[in-house]
Amino acid sequence: MASAETSAAPVSPVTFPPAFLWGAATSAYQIEGAVREDGRTPSIWDTFSHTPGKTAGGETGDIAVDHYHRYRDDVALMAELGLGAYRFSVSWSRVQPMGRGPAVQRGLDFYRRLVDELLAHGVKPALTLYHWDLPQELEDAGGWPERDTAYRFAEYAQIVGDALGDRVEQWITLNEPWCSAFLGYGSGVHAPGRTDAAASLRAAHHLNLAHGLGTSALRAAMPARNTVAVSLNSSVVRTVSDSPADVAAGRRIDDLANGVFHGPMLHGAYPAGLFAATASVTDWSFVQDGDLEAVNQPLDALGLNYYTPTLVSATESAPAGPRADGHGASSFSPWPGADDVVFHLTPGERTEMGWSIDPTGLHELIMRYTREAPGLPLYITENGAAYDDKPDPEGRVHDPERIAYLHGHLTAVRRAITDGADVRGYYLWSLMDNFEWAYGYGKRFGAVYVDYATLARTPKSSARWYAQAARTGTLPG
Ligand code: NOJ
Repeated sequence: MASAETSAAPVSPVTFPPAFLWGAATSAYQIEGAVREDGRTPSIWDTFSHTPGKTAGGETGDIAVDHYHRYRDDVALMAELGLGAYRFSVSWSRVQPMGRGPAVQRGLDFYRRLVDELLAHGVKPALTLYHWDLPQELEDAGGWPERDTAYRFAEYAQIVGDALGDRVEQWITLNEPWCSAFLGYGSGVHAPGRTDAAASLRAAHHLNLAHGLGTSALRAAMPARNTVAVSLNSSVVRTVSDSPADVAAGRRIDDLANGVFHGPMLHGAYPAGLFAATASVTDWSFVQDGDLEAVNQPLDALGLNYYTPTLVSATESAPAGPRADGHGASSFSPWPGADDVVFHLTPGERTEMGWSIDPTGLHELIMRYTREAPGLPLYITENGAAYDDKPDPEGRVHDPERIAYLHGHLTAVRRAITDGADVRGYYLWSLMDNFEWAYGYGKRFGAVYVDYATLARTPKSSARWYAQAARTGTLPG
């Protein structure tokens, strides 16, 4: 839990190894739109965003940034920005309507065209199978708290692996399963909006199982050269003090945020403390014989998504002061069995999300997984910042705060490489402004500005800055 920073000062100028991959990331529901085209059926995010009161201003992904129709221009823009890689996700209900049964070729064809366009422009595709948009029919059948959803995911993985394994080399099973389980079924601020602590732990286990079964299905369906990874939003958990009560609170949150996924995925076991900490919520009888072996598949890489650290204390020692609202205001906690832990605002400047800016957290995270998963290549599969960007009278968008954020975090990545970490690449979140889930379109994470009235794309100054970094391998300025 300690946050000691022991490594040397960054080398100047900040230069990356020649093979370092410079990418940007998006996800299907956040950018595609075209929600009723070519046979796609609703996902839980269609239902949730159309439910009054669930997203800011009632905004939905119906149109999003219309990437489904504009992907050619978007890929041309990526090439213009010198991106080496692009991480996107596949909409499950576009390729397998209702989450089961035969694949719809029209849906798969969209991704074939997208990937071919990327390859033609020299941009490496990195495909995420699941970025939160469960087919609604599967939620109606019980969703992630139901074991069958994991088997449905494996079938879907096999379909996509069969269809695209010949042209996509980098595969990611799940994006941030913590959010799917605990924001979707615990605090309810994400789709499907359920508030049931026991269901959130069942969901976590079945997401783990889905990852394992999906990884095996991909391996069977695809050429051996392809790589399989998972993207975790591992928290950097810090404590207000070193008192035994605070340290114990921090360990509990670490188990609930991190160990609950990386334990089974990387080590084949849940953390010892997790069962005890959640005993009042569930007896974990949904974990069946053989599950942990099924989850613990060898991986080719680990994806880390990082934005800001987490600061906790035990209730009994909590100092007065502002409290963090966790992940979106909800009267339900996403942390089962942790009602006696207090979340604090982390110090420092904040982005438009209210998240403090702390690149040391990224360095700490990378070094942690360098120790926990020795030999496993790491990718930063998301990192970035929301700011209230506005075009100037000439239509240009200047975002020096985002440049500073990226500079700080990329310097932390470089420092981790110097300290022995095997970080192979970085995906900026996000390529362009998009639907920021429950926050709607108000939070702009893009390096490219999107005018939501015309859907015109304008690279911000950060996009130009990043393009130069990608082209030269050295951070400008
Ligand atoms: C994590 C998620 O994967 C992505 O969908 C989201 O937009 C960003 N973080 C920013 O909140």
